[in-house]
Parts: sequence; C-alpha cells; structure tokens
Amino acid sequence: MEFVPFQESMVEAGAKLLWGNYRALRGKGLTLLPQRFEELDSAQEALHRLLAQPRTMGLAAFLKGELRAYLLGTPTVNSIRGRHVWIHPAGLGIDSSFSLELFRDLYARLGAIWVHNGFFDHFLLTLNEPAWLEPWLRVGFGYEQAHALLDLETLDFDHPPNPQITVRQGNKTDRTLVQSFYDIIPRQHAAAPVWGVALPEDLPEIYEGYGELLDEEGTTTWLAFLDGHPVGLHVYRTLWDGVDLLVPAGAARLTVASTREEARGRGVSSTLLSVALQDAYSKGFRVCETDWRITNLLSSRHWESKGFKEVARRLVRKVDPRIVWADGYNVLA
Ligand SMILES: CC(C)(COP(=O)(O)OP(=O)(O)OC[C@H]1O[C@@H](n2cnc3c(N)ncnc32)[C@H](O)[C@@H]1OP(=O)(O)O)[C@@H](O)C(=O)NCCC(=O)NCCS
Repeated sequence: MEFVPFQESMVEAGAKLLWGNYRALRGKGLTLLPQRFEELDSAQEALHRLLAQPRTMGLAAFLKGELRAYLLGTPTVNSIRGRHVWIHPAGLGIDSSFSLELFRDLYARLGAIWVHNGFFDHFLLTLNEPAWLEPWLRVGFGYEQAHALLDLETLDFDHPPNPQITVRQGNKTDRTLVQSFYDIIPRQHAAAPVWGVALPEDLPEIYEGYGELLDEEGTTTWLAFLDGHPVGLHVYRTLWDGVDLLVPAGAARLTVASTREEARGRGVSSTLLSVALQDAYSKGFRVCETDWRITNLLSSRHWESKGFKEVARRLVRKVDPRIVWADGYNVLA
C-alpha cells in the first residue's frame, strides 16, 4: 500500500468510495439519511465542498495504481475548541473489499502531522454503524455527540395527557421569558457526567442569543406552562440547505429543549415535542433532526425514548500535548 497526499485530482475516485460506503451504511438501517448521496454527483460535490474549506488536508491509500481509501481532516482554530481537527462525514472513504483497519493506518500517518503542528484534539463526525465506528474506537476515539433523525410520517402524536400543561408558540413579547431559560443547557452540560465547560465569558452571549431566537426567520419557539407557570422551552429551526450528508430535505432542527428542574419528568418536553411536531408536519416538514451529548443522561434517554434514531456520531480523541517532548528520546540526565 502506498500513502500519498490527497489531491483534487483524486476527487472522482474518492467520490466513488464515499458513494459506495454511504449506500451500504444507509442500507443498514439508516434509511432516513438523504438518498441524494447515493448519486455519484452528490458525493463528488460533497468532496469538492470539503476540499474547498481552508486547510483541509488528506491522505490517500493506493494499491496497484487505484485509490483504496482516503482520510481528510480540517485543522481549525477557534476560542471554544482551541487548535483542533475536524473529520467531516465526507472525509473518509474506503473500498469495501478492504479491511476498515486501513483507516487506522491513515489516521496514524495523518494524525502525526496534526500532532506535530500542535493540533491535539481530533473530532470525527461519521455515520452510526458499529463496525464502521470500531476502527476509530481502536485508535483511542470516544463517543461524544449523537446526531439523530425522527420520521414524522410514522410519528404517533399522542402524548402523555397531563392536563396541567398548556403549550403555546412564543412571540416577540416573550423575549425575557425565553431568555430566562438560557442557562439550563450550559449547566446541564457542565454537570456530571458530561463535564463540558460552560465558559463564564460565553454566558452573556448565550443570553443575548436566546432573545434573538424570536427574531430569526425560520425559527419557531414553543413555551410550556404548568399550572400557568412557564416551565419548558423548545426551539425549532428550518434547515434550508440540502447539501448535508446527514440531513434530509424537509427537515426541522430541534435546537433547544429545556425544562426547569422542578418540572421535569411530568411530560413537559413530551408535550412540547408532540405539539410542535404536529404543527411542523402540517407545514410540510417530514423529519426532525436533533443532537445531544451522549454523556447527558437526561437528553440521551429522552430523545431515544421519543423515537429519534441515531444516524451519526461525533467521536473525539484528545492527545496528551506532552507527547511533543515526552517522546522517549528526551532523557533528563
Ligand atoms: C431532557 C429534558 C428536556 C426532558 O424534559 P422533561 O420535561 O423532563 O421531559 P418529559 O417529562 O416529557 O419526559 C421525561 C421522562 O418523564 C416521564 N414522564 C413523561 N410524562 C410523564 C407524566 N405525565 N408523568 C410521569 N412521568 C412522565 C417519561 O418517562 C420520560 O422518560 P424519558 O425521558 O425516557 O422520555 C429535561 O430533562 C431537561 O431540560 N434537561 C436539561 C437540559 C437538557 O439536557 N436539554 C437537552 C439538550 S439536548
């Protein structure tokens, strides 16, 4: 096997691998994913888009002059995640007659370049199928986020009857009320066993962002009241683009779901979901998309029990930065 940098000229061959993998995985129970990427043109377009992102780099595995597998990653720098690399859904492809083990070889070689350049945190977003994920677990990745779809065509809109709960759509006069929910998700995500940091300097921005939800085109907020007191919020966004490998057409994204602690476990979120999705269905939406931290016990259990099906997972590998100098060659003597 020969390993060479991935070039634009390899897109056609790469798209064939991506297309083949996508088709096979979609056939293994991920049929809610968009069928569009079972067309070669769409797979090719996805690869072109990925390569057009600044700093995207990759490695290709060739045998007997043919592309057998590739791995593409995008080194990125921002204040939330620092120096890190994204491997997007279109960033990996393999000839189905080869062992998925080849991904481990590609990662070892490409990852070495990232680590050498101070990119220690590696994120991989890919389709959710046990055998497909296995090689990544075996190079030290762990599950972080679930991406899921709910088929509105088959949804049973019945919800647990709790006559104490009333639900209505939010409007511009609800700004302060919607903003009052702003810290529920950050606090839940900072708590055990998620332990995802909620940076103090980000909280004012999140507060402002909640207020702006009511002004956004294509965004719908729903509020729930228990005995007349506001206790729950759901926010849905229309997904406009039709270019994402993970998002089918006619999809609404459930982007915020929060129930005040004292009102949890009484059907608030279930009622909001049911009312909001009935409304979305009547407006032509056919799928609801959402994501959650796999370590968030509340949301991961809740969305699964509501029928959301995990179609993709984000995995993360965090390399100990000391590896740059604690490499077995430096001896303190
Ligand atoms: C996840 C979350 C939104 C769920 O909200 P909730 O209002 O407690 O949800 P519900 O009461 O409808 O359902 C919760 C459980 O209560 C039970 N329940 C629902 N209605 C009930 C009723 N009338 N009587 C008794 N129990 C009931 C169900 O068994 C349900 O189980 P499930 O979670 O496995 O589906 C809430 O826990 C929350 O705000 N968490 C913190 C923020 C967060 O994590 N948000 C999600 C980010 S992705």
